[in-house]
Formats: sequence, structure tokens, C-alpha cells
Amino acid sequence: MMYSIKMRASQHAEHISGAETICRKEEIESTLQKFMRKGFFHENGEPDFMNFKVEQITKPLITLEALQIIGNQTQSATLASQGCGISVQALTEAWKYIQNEVNYRGAVIIDAASGKRLDDTNDRGIRVTNFMMDQSASNGLNERVQDALAIATCINAYPGVAGELCVSDDLNYTTGYFASQAKGYCRLYQVKEVGSRNGGRVIFVEEAIDLNNYRRFLEQEPKCIVSKN
Ligand code: COA
Repeated sequence: MMYSIKMRASQHAEHISGAETICRKEEIESTLQKFMRKGFFHENGEPDFMNFKVEQITKPLITLEALQIIGNQTQSATLASQGCGISVQALTEAWKYIQNEVNYRGAVIIDAASGKRLDDTNDRGIRVTNFMMDQSASNGLNERVQDALAIATCINAYPGVAGELCVSDDLNYTTGYFASQAKGYCRLYQVKEVGSRNGGRVIFVEEAIDLNNYRRFLEQEPKCIVSKN
């Protein structure tokens, strides 16, 4: 039997940090302890509220192969997204969602050709949830990269997804990424100013994608990310 474990921490009702995984019963206690530490010590601030959730998983885990990390050359989102079917217009629109003053609570979904927003969640956005990373895929990666790689792998595993651009809203973390099934997880260094909480996540999709099913996959299906090798 497997359990989904989730933590979220906030200050004055503003989100500070979240963490989640799926684990066996005997790992629940140590996982909760790890998440509690993560929630209490975060650069975005000290929480005045923390929520822990433990739920039994009732569906089989979907296994997904982690995207390959491409991180040793200087890349721009324009370069990383070349050949993925994403127009210049769509990329320009994506940057607007990332740089505007709204801190979406999840990802914004846009048409890869026109750049038009397709989801109807306003300031909320759509969040990837119910996932875990197998040790084979997490080995040697720090937790931040593990989380980002897990989310990017889930987002890009669905047919009709062209890619994803992400910039963290953490104050001092300036490395973002562009991820796609075609080219992998490309790290983008110094993608924003230090000390800014402007960030966001934009998913580029083909117009024909079944958004309801895609959303169900991202939010509800339990997903396990494993290493390619
Ligand atoms: N960013 C900002 N706000 C968040 C949030 C996040 N990542 N996750 C939750 N919240 C806040 C929102 O206000 C949310 O209300 P909403 O659904 O109207 O947006 C509220 O908390 C309750 O959200 P819920 O989904 O019920 O939280 P949960 O207790 O099930 O925990 C987390 C979910 C926090 C574990 C999960 O969202 C998370 O952050 N996982 C870590 C990986 C990650 O960053 N995922 C987001 C990928 S886009």
C-alpha cells in the first residue's frame, strides 16, 4: 500500500513552500519530519500555517521516464525551444505571464502556435500533483532540481504538449528551465534578477489537446518518475 504525503506552508495566507511524494507506510513518519523541516526553514519566510496531508493511493502508479537534464551550456529559451513547434509569438506571450505581477498558483496553459491562453483558471493556474521520484531518478540531484525535473517530466509526458517554460518565484533562485519531450530539460541560467519573486510556469500545447483529460492526468493520476537508464 502506498501513501501520498503533502505539505504546504504559508505566511499571512501567502504560499511559502510545498512538498510532496508518494511512499510506503513505514516511510510516512520520516517523510513528514523531512517536510516539516523544509516548511519551517525557507528563504521566502517563516510560516504561520502548515498543513500536512496523508492519503492512501488507490490507483496504480503511472511510470514516467525522467527527462534528460541538459545543463552545461548557456542556453536561452528561444534556443532551447527551437524545433518544438512553438511560435515566437507564443514564447513572447509566455514571458509576459512569467514576468507580470500575478503569482499564479500553478501553470498557465497556452496555444503553442498563437500564444492564446487555453485554461480557464485565471490567477490560479493548473498544478501538477500526486507524484514521486524514484531514487534511480533523483540520485545526485538537489531537492529543488528533483522537484522541478519531476514536474517537468509529468507536464511533458502527455501527447500534444510542445514544451514548458519555468522561472522559480523563490527570491534568490535565478536558474529556470525550458523542458520538452523532444529536447529534454534545458537549464536556463540567470534568467531573472536576484531578489525578485516574479516567476511562473507556462505550458505550450497543440490546440487539439483534450485539456480536461490533460488536467486530470496532471492533478489526479499518481505518477512515479524513474531514471531512463
Ligand atoms: N503554489 C502556490 N499556492 C499553492 C500551491 C503552490 N504550489 N499549492 C497549494 N497552494 C495553496 C493555494 O492557495 C491552494 O488553493 P487553490 O487550489 O485555490 O490554488 C491551497 O494552497 C490549497 O491547495 P491544495 O492543492 O489543496 O494543497 P495540498 O494540501 O493538496 O498540497 C502541495 C499541495 C502544496 C503539496 C502541492 O501544490 C505542491 O506544491 N507540491 C510540490 C511541487 C510543486 O511545486 N507543485 C506545483 C507544480 S505547478
